[in-house]
Amino acid sequence: MKRIIAVAAAAAIASASVAFAAGHTDAITMRKNGMQGVGLAMGTLVAMAKGEAPVDAKKAAGALKSMNYVANTFGDFFPEGSADGDTTASPKIWEDMAGFEEKLEALQTDTAMAAMDAPQDQAAVQELVGMLGKGCKGCHEEYRIEK
Ligand code: HEC
Repeated sequence: MKRIIAVAAAAAIASASVAFAAGHTDAITMRKNGMQGVGLAMGTLVAMAKGEAPVDAKKAAGALKSMNYVANTFGDFFPEGSADGDTTASPKIWEDMAGFEEKLEALQTDTAMAAMDAPQDQAAVQELVGMLGKGCKGCHEEYRIEK
């Protein structure tokens, strides 16, 4: 766990300096690209959960690690003023950064834990997808807007 935290911290520092140098359009692009990656990884798990793809613990762990990477860096791409633009991020994020970060931390922890104990069978993947899905929905409902 200590090593994971250290690696996550290093990644966060590295991407924070990138975010600092980048304009708002870049921050929006970074967070959308990140979430698209999360969506793709989730798709990999959903396919296993539905039985459309064979359950592969290694592949599942890979998907979870990529989600975890995004979760660990996502918070760096919300500079003040970046609610404006081609984004579905709700202004509420900037009004309630603590609440937003709490939901983000849940995604960080859930994906890190699950990557270390990857699901071995369909029932386990289904349970995992259900758990993660609640987190996606919980944050999107509160901190995303329809455009
Ligand atoms: C902590 C909050 C949070 C969590 C948890 C979260 N998301 Fe998101 N997601 C966002 C925000 C904010 C955006 C809007 C980004 C923007 O448009 O700037 C977004 C956008 C997206 C998008 C659209 C990206 C685009 O191109 O516009 C997808 C797909 C997505 N999320 C998938 C997921 C999935 C799947 C999960 C769960 C595994 C998840 N998200 C969990 C906050 C979250």
